Amino acid sequence: MVASLETKFLNQCYENPFMNASGVHCLTVEELNDLKDSQAGGFITKSATTLERAGNPEPRYFATSLGSINSMGLPNKGFEYYLEYVTNYQEKHPNGNVPFFSVAGMSLKENIKLLSAIQASAFEGVTELNLSCPNVPGKPQVGYDFEMTEETLNRVFQFFKKPLGVKLPPYFDFAHFDIMANILNKFPLAYVNCVNSIGNGLYVDVETQSVVIKPKNGFGGIGGDYIKPTALANVRAFYTRLNPSIKVIGTGGIKSGQDAFEHLLCGATMLQVGTALYEEGISVFERLEMELKEIMDKKGYKSIDEFRGKLQSL
Ligand code: SIN
Repeated sequence: MVASLETKFLNQCYENPFMNASGVHCLTVEELNDLKDSQAGGFITKSATTLERAGNPEPRYFATSLGSINSMGLPNKGFEYYLEYVTNYQEKHPNGNVPFFSVAGMSLKENIKLLSAIQASAFEGVTELNLSCPNVPGKPQVGYDFEMTEETLNRVFQFFKKPLGVKLPPYFDFAHFDIMANILNKFPLAYVNCVNSIGNGLYVDVETQSVVIKPKNGFGGIGGDYIKPTALANVRAFYTRLNPSIKVIGTGGIKSGQDAFEHLLCGATMLQVGTALYEEGISVFERLEMELKEIMDKKGYKSIDEFRGKLQSL
């Protein structure tokens, strides 16, 4: 195989574009170290809140034949735990790619507090602000509130000078792609991550005539095969609307080299893997890389840059 998967993202060079999606295999130091030692090009922490959270009651994840439904409720070890991990990592690997640091405050005030602490810290890597967790009862997703999104970014960029991306929920209407892109284009964002799970789906088990997860009477975020077309649409919609300086990370339904190729063709630069990583484990990255290289070899592409974003219209 001759194709190279090397990917430049925010002045860093990654061996390949694959990462975990925040929330999958990144809760503990042990899991994060598994990612470090895996074939993933990069990795990201579980979205942190100020204090450790147990998350929602179990069962809170269920695999279906076409993907998954989850309502984890942001279980995490707390902000300081992950800040220590990423800053230690940076110290030990001065020339390496440090993990992305995901944060998800429960309010504007908490997001400002978390980002202020990152700004004041030694961490120089990439921060992802999660505006799209659908699973915390009583806390609607910021990404669906356009005014709150703009206010949040206005406040954040008054003081935040390090590379920052946002994790977005999926949008389903051209009007919403336009409104959101107009807002995002006002800010020096490093990237947008499209998409988080499709919020508040419901999966029914006909045998038991029941829902399959406990929180929120069975409502939860949908991932996997179900969401790939929506994820591709969001990657494409934002790739074609955002200033070229704002990169797009593609997340949603990536479980084969072909899925990865499609995301890249729509304009993604990095690729995050959620459900497939949860189901297959850390070896998924090796397989995805091999399959993506095979497709590129067949098509005669030596690098991703030769086809990224070049989706044809009819
Ligand atoms: C969760 O912890 O509920 C999932 C995280 C997310 O969707 O952002």
